Amino acid sequence: MSIDPKILELRQKREEARLGGGPKRIEQQHARGKLTARERVELLLDEGSFQELGVFVTQRNTSFGNNKQTVYGDGVVTGYGTINGRLVYVFSQDFTVFGGSLGEAHAEKIVRLMDHAMKNGAPLIGLNDSGGARIQEGVVSLGGYADIFLRNTLASGVVPQISAVMGPCAGGAVYSPALTDFIFMVKDTSYMFVTGPDVVKTVTHEDVSFETLGGAMAHNEKSGVAHFAAENEEHCVSMIRKLMTFLPQNNMEEPPLVRATDDPLRAEQSLDSLVPDVPMKPYDMKEIIHLVVDDGDFFEVHEHYAANIIVGFARLNGRSIGIVGQQPIVLAGVLDINSSAKGARFVRFCDCFNIPIITFEDVPGFLPGVGQEHGGIIRHGTKLLYAYCEATVPKITVITRKAYGGAYDVMSSKHIRGDLNYAWPSAEIAVMGPDGAVNILYRDEITNAADPDATKQKLTQEYREHFANPYIAASRGYVDDVIEPHQTRAKLIAGLEMLQNKRDTNPPKKHGNIPL
Ligand code: HXC
Repeated sequence: MSIDPKILELRQKREEARLGGGPKRIEQQHARGKLTARERVELLLDEGSFQELGVFVTQRNTSFGNNKQTVYGDGVVTGYGTINGRLVYVFSQDFTVFGGSLGEAHAEKIVRLMDHAMKNGAPLIGLNDSGGARIQEGVVSLGGYADIFLRNTLASGVVPQISAVMGPCAGGAVYSPALTDFIFMVKDTSYMFVTGPDVVKTVTHEDVSFETLGGAMAHNEKSGVAHFAAENEEHCVSMIRKLMTFLPQNNMEEPPLVRATDDPLRAEQSLDSLVPDVPMKPYDMKEIIHLVVDDGDFFEVHEHYAANIIVGFARLNGRSIGIVGQQPIVLAGVLDINSSAKGARFVRFCDCFNIPIITFEDVPGFLPGVGQEHGGIIRHGTKLLYAYCEATVPKITVITRKAYGGAYDVMSSKHIRGDLNYAWPSAEIAVMGPDGAVNILYRDEITNAADPDATKQKLTQEYREHFANPYIAASRGYVDDVIEPHQTRAKLIAGLEMLQNKRDTNPPKKHGNIPL
């Protein structure tokens, strides 16, 4: 049977569209270790679920010789599909077409997708690989970016927005990913910067490579702009799929509840001896997290940045939770500028999307020092305090060891609406640690003593016995119970179940004024 010529024409056009910038440019893309825009989408979504929109959109610009080429799709593949059966919207920039640069039509396609995501309450995932604003289109392309920025901002806290940077992302183009909730980068093939190495050289005379200036590890370790560093694109896409399993579709939904196979009453006896007797001796908080959560499965966010605080997702009896915990093996788990900002952003994300927050606390306080004070530890530390205070999701805290000073208040204490606060017997809850306290309270007595060392030791021991325990806080009801560490999983699960219908609100306001 002969095929209708009109259908043949359609098929031919579709094939043309599928090839984007053509076989040669696809080959170049592959040679750089990068997948094409369509290959990425196929890999990201459930097999066969992708429905493309705007296949035949073309640019309208005619200036600067740009009318010579008209490529279907205008350098971005857009559409919707599913991840583990749940709807997501995806755009994927095609570097083989005008270097994935963003012109009017390209921007319009993304904007349409964002409008869909907002109306239909489903996450938006952007796969970025672009030379930035399409130079030939001038201000129209800047306008296109601004249309996207506005929608990113309006969608913030309404639907999850995920960005993967899988190639260049330069100039103002960085602001759209930066407005989204999580940024993934791929080692060796992706970079982000406001101004590239050439401009840097001209302005500051610094010689720097693309990778050092804005590569995956630069933004994962140093700037904190990116939250995940993938080994390659396949790894990147698999991490995005995993992240999505913890998130609800939008702010009106609860996160998905999965059927748990891990025993909710599982008691890990090894937890009882995990915190060392010597208070200055560190231990790995991640070990505790792994032992407590379902199947030991902890999906860490911002792993490489400010490692003195740990944030990430896990499940307890099938329920999504966000975990915030100090890491005693890095800077003794102290709160500093970077860890406060990291923690605050994560707490706010969880609160936006109805994800309960579990806090594992072992914090000696805020980091002293001129650098920290002049860097604004007051302002940045307050971000974390503000984030915990305003969060209305269920909040449960486990104090494993130190809870000193302002940091005690900050880390989801009951005074700032923590719902359930537990302490382990190893907890020390006081204004400050024994050494510092004794030095302040008994300076003269120690200096004038016949044996200053012995006197200090005696006073420190007395202070420790009096304050460095959880029982004064428990006597006040500031902690709800002192629990044996092996009971932690069962206590948290029971608590989350009790809190599942929690209703709490903040006073009506346009929005708060978090110290930025
Ligand atoms: C139009 C562009 C383009 C752009 C790349 N191309 N960037 N076309 N506008 N912004 C085209 C190139 O002309 C080339 O076309 C093709 O894409 C591939 O680019 P190459 O340079 O050959 O690739 P490569 O060597 O890999 O270099 C990639 C690159 C480089 C580092 C991204 O192209 C580059 O520096 N581009 C400009 C980056 C930039 O400064 N963008 C503006 C940022 S300012 P042909 O046909 O020759 O193969 C900005 C403002 C946004 O984005 C503001 C929003 C508020």
